[in-house]
Order: sequence, then structure tokens, then C-alpha cells
Amino acid sequence: MDATALFKSRSSVRKYKPQVIADKIIDDILDCARLAPTARNVQPWLIGAVTDKSLLKKLGSMVETGPFIANAAVCFAVFTQKNEKYYLEDGCAATLSIILACQAHGLGSCWVAGDKKSYIEDARKLLNVPEGYTLVALVPAGYPAEAAAPHPKKPKEEVTFKDRKI
Ligand SMILES: Cc1cc2nc3c(=O)[nH]c(=O)nc-3n(C[C@H](O)[C@H](O)[C@H](O)COP(=O)(O)O)c2cc1C
Repeated sequence: MDATALFKSRSSVRKYKPQVIADKIIDDILDCARLAPTARNVQPWLIGAVTDKSLLKKLGSMVETGPFIANAAVCFAVFTQKNEKYYLEDGCAATLSIILACQAHGLGSCWVAGDKKSYIEDARKLLNVPEGYTLVALVPAGYPAEAAAPHPKKPKEEVTFKDRKI
């Protein structure tokens, strides 16, 4: 699949097969994440991959909008240094890279909010991430247990423009 077809075929997936994901795939996804752009190339992040079942269960019960994390084969966790001005943008760049790398490997995934949520400190402590880092996003992933239902998107003409908005 070419890169743009990959972007266009992506949809959030929240149901996963129990099938284990090979370490080399998880490593490749982490590699894609850490190559994402960052403001001034600071790369102010710690990006984790959680595969331990008890940690996945704990994350799933911690995150009320992401109980399906408990059934994921892996959950990526993007932390960035909160004293960095562009901590959120940088973390979002890595998060999207994770999602698209998952798609490239045939995995379904879903962005689960981290930043602004009350559990970010609990998640940091659970994953033994040093103080000073804050959770930007969790990305549970796995081989899809169902076909992703594409969500309706606004018409291109409504939400994009060339040169000047008419
Ligand atoms: C910043 C952000 C936070 C999100 N948080 C959650 C979440 O907590 N739980 C969830 O199930 N989906 C979450 N999503 C996924 C969105 O619901 C999903 O992307 C949106 O409905 C569009 O569907 P699509 O990804 O299939 O295009 C989040 C997406 C973004 C970008």
C-alpha cells in the first residue's frame, strides 16, 4: 500500500485479537515514533510499549474512555517533558507516527487521550516514568478483531482550502 492510501484507509480500532505482536514489529513502531519531528529537534520524549497483561489491565481500568486498552496486545504510551514549550505538539507528532506505523504493520489502533486527563500522573507512576514527563497519549493496538468502521469525515471542500478561503 502506498503511503497516502495508508493514511486514507486508517480508522480507529478498539477491538483486538489476542494474537501476540512480534517484538520486531513493536520495535519498528517505536523506531518510527522516535523519528517524528519535534520543535527545535529537542525530542523531549519517552515512548513506551506496554505488553504486560497486568499493566494493560491496570491502564484499562484507569482510563474511563479506554477500557479496551485491557484487551490490546500492546499499548504505546507517549510521554514528553512538560517543561518543554512544545511538549504537546511534539507528543502528538509521535502519537500519529505510532498510529500510522501500526497501520503499516496491519495493526489496528486508537488514540486515547492522555494530556488534560486526571490519570496522567497515575499512568506515569504505573509505568515508572520519571517525574517531569507527562502523558500525551496512549495508543492501544493489536490485530483487528473487526473491520474498522470508517467514521464520517467532513467534505474536503468544507475543511480545506488552497491559497485563500473562498
Ligand atoms: C486527541 C484525541 C483523543 C482521543 N481520545 C480517545 C479516547 O479517549 N477514547 C477513544 O475511544 N477514542 C479516542 N480518540 C479517537 C477518536 O474518537 C477518533 O479518532 C475519532 O472518533 C475519529 O475516528 P477515526 O479515528 O476512526 O477517524 C481520540 C482521538 C484524538 C485525536
